[in-house]
Amino acid sequence: MLTAEHLRHPALFAKIVTADQAAALIGDGMTVGVSGFTPSGYPKKVAQALARAVAAGRKCRINLWSGASVGPEIEEELAAVGAIARRAPYYAASNKSMRVAINSGDIRYTDLHLSHFAQQIDYGFLGPVDVAIVEAVAVTATGDLVLGPGVGNTPMLVQHAAQVIVEVNTAQPLELEGMHDIFVLPRPPRRREIPIYDTLDRIGGPYVACGLGRIAAIVESDVPDKVRNLEPPDDLGRKIAANLIDFLAHEQKRGRIPTAMLPLQSGVGSIANAVLAGLAASPFENLHMYSEILQDAVFALIEAGKITAASGCAFTPSPGVLERFRRDPGLYRRALVLRPLDISNHPEVIRRLGVIALNTPLEFDIYGHANSTHVMGTHMMNGIGGSGDYMRNGYLTIFTAESVARNGAISRVVPMVSHCDHTEHDAMVFVTEHGVADVRGLSPRERARVIIANCAHPDYRGPLLEYVRAAEQGGGHTPHDLNQAFAFHDRYNRTGTMKNGKGGPANG
Ligand code: COA
Repeated sequence: MLTAEHLRHPALFAKIVTADQAAALIGDGMTVGVSGFTPSGYPKKVAQALARAVAAGRKCRINLWSGASVGPEIEEELAAVGAIARRAPYYAASNKSMRVAINSGDIRYTDLHLSHFAQQIDYGFLGPVDVAIVEAVAVTATGDLVLGPGVGNTPMLVQHAAQVIVEVNTAQPLELEGMHDIFVLPRPPRRREIPIYDTLDRIGGPYVACGLGRIAAIVESDVPDKVRNLEPPDDLGRKIAANLIDFLAHEQKRGRIPTAMLPLQSGVGSIANAVLAGLAASPFENLHMYSEILQDAVFALIEAGKITAASGCAFTPSPGVLERFRRDPGLYRRALVLRPLDISNHPEVIRRLGVIALNTPLEFDIYGHANSTHVMGTHMMNGIGGSGDYMRNGYLTIFTAESVARNGAISRVVPMVSHCDHTEHDAMVFVTEHGVADVRGLSPRERARVIIANCAHPDYRGPLLEYVRAAEQGGGHTPHDLNQAFAFHDRYNRTGTMKNGKGGPANG
């Protein structure tokens, strides 16, 4: 039940409505921005009410914006009834209805670098925001919002929304208050530096500015976030983590990473989790994380005293970790700060702090390009998320992955990625269970040999080397056999002069 602790101005109680009444404020064709980031701090009840109304025959298809993928009450239930027309800036394949609808073209999805989206909202690149639905743990006496564990793009969405619906969730701990550092970037050209010089530096305030007058409705909720427990790392994950830690220790010995270590960013997925778990047994101490998302493994490292400072735009505690947070909030409050997504992923801060970026692709090629998003080049798995923000701007940029996929049926190290999210200019190091390929300073032909020898599964090394040798016969800085790709131009060209890929471009 909502009390004066949750709603800190008497006028707010008059705004309490049912989820169905709040959902009725959302009209067909509207753009709806939601709080949260991954299944953390997102609104649940209004989305479920809207899904029920659409299932019962109401015509309503919305454009859905967020920080990242959120929980199944939004991603799964709204997608299943066809209530989503467009989606940005991220989606995750774990929500099956959304995955099917995006890959069939039914939902028009725009995949964006996550650090870009707040500014695109600010300038209206994708149109105006009609409604923001925000999950909060409390509303202050001035109508400002105390967020839950996921900040994402909430400050910018609230700033631009014509109407704000607040779901006040009593299942989220009130102790979250004070963990947020909300800072909204001014517009260029008057933008100054972002004054974050250390992981826990605070530059903003604890609340999302909203104001009593802009809150159209308040809905009470007690629905917990649907955070899944991650599987404990397997042998393979442990091997990858061990290879990575050896490499980082070696870099430290050579003086290329300071003894105090640089802040780490960790991506998503099972390998990312295994790598973090591996840090527990590493020689590194007093670690900092300047990351986007802080998963369970981070909490274990905070409890073990390995991580002493962590900054992210969300933390996703599984139920067990949330319970521990409730028991000893002080431990986490000292070590954690939650920021808006465009600050957690901002190139300026990532470069200034010298972040070591650790991400996982679906596949990478012998020259160092990586595909994080499209299975076989066509079907979206997960969006690019913040991987590009960190891989482009990190001090040391590292991809960690298993050498094979689909139970070993295919190699993740391929001649040419089927979709390119990260170019050869981004990643410096590749790590698999077989070893480490450090490609800094190498030419493409050198890179190919180092990546094949150190990262590819032994069963695929021969075919990959054969590919390189054959491709080198044709010459080029980055040798390839592009016959397959050129087949398209052979069949479809305006002049009819390019036959069998031999004609070349008209202007040479
Ligand atoms: N070809 C075809 N399928 C592949 C593949 C490949 N090269 N690599 C993986 N897959 C399939 C797997 O078989 C699995 O399929 P399933 O779900 O049907 O079982 C699925 O893709 C997931 O693969 P897996 O390697 O187990 O996932 P993961 O947990 O290690 O996560 C990514 C890997 C790429 C999905 C994840 O890191 C990601 O979402 N990256 C993009 C976003 C990102 O980097 N965010 C970080 C921001 S800070």
